[in-house]
Amino acid sequence: EGRRPLIAGNWKMNLDHLQAIAFVQKLSWGLKDVGHDYDDVEIAVFPPFTDLRSVQTLLSADKLSLKLGAQDVSPHESGAYTGDISAQFLAKLDVEYVIVGHSERRGGHGESDETVGAKARAAQAAGLVPVICVGETAEDLEEHGAAAIPVAQLERAVAELPADAEYVVAYEPVWAIGSGQAATAEQAEEVCRALREQLREQRGETEAAATRILYGGSVTSQNIASFLRQPDVDGALVGGASLKVDEFTRIVQFKK
Ligand code: G3H
Repeated sequence: EGRRPLIAGNWKMNLDHLQAIAFVQKLSWGLKDVGHDYDDVEIAVFPPFTDLRSVQTLLSADKLSLKLGAQDVSPHESGAYTGDISAQFLAKLDVEYVIVGHSERRGGHGESDETVGAKARAAQAAGLVPVICVGETAEDLEEHGAAAIPVAQLERAVAELPADAEYVVAYEPVWAIGSGQAATAEQAEEVCRALREQLREQRGETEAAATRILYGGSVTSQNIASFLRQPDVDGALVGGASLKVDEFTRIVQFKK
């Protein structure tokens, strides 16, 4: 439907700033070798905060087409928030995307849907594109089925965004993250379709049709193509496999 696929590599708490430079160089050279067309498939990497400046410098010096993302952002603009990083700080480092509401933040740091919504709003206000993560746990799946929880999370996360805001949604079933047990392409499509339907009702047809919805959870070069063949899956949020240059290169080249 004319949505450009986005493959996002979430490094989580891996690769220090020296390793990050070596990694991004190797990745971008490899992508050049295989003739990757960035207009065809957009690629973004999400390093830890402490790597962002180094990666930004490298990307701009070498005019690389990889996009830069961050893994979290404060809902506040500035002030007495020890340890937090503002959206403005990220914007000044040429960061374009920022993950909000990853399950590792919802679970490990007690982030509510309201906090996730406030983070998405803060990111959007600073000109960043929030990547809003939603997904059900194994218990949720058993109790409510696959779509109910992610749809409710999305509804609350986008509630405060202005009309026609740009954002990305990432559907990540918690049971599929880092488990080696990915959802099937059909399961992913079912929930991604329900998420788009929610956006259609809540935000209108134009925004629903323009918004990219990614699948995440044990994505590999073996299963990526099956997800991207689904009409409502517009890309992937890749964790573990984004840390291996060769494997990540095969993933972004999924059409070949
Ligand atoms: O943000 C990425 C996801 O949590 C997926 O991680 O590909 O290692 O399962 P994974």
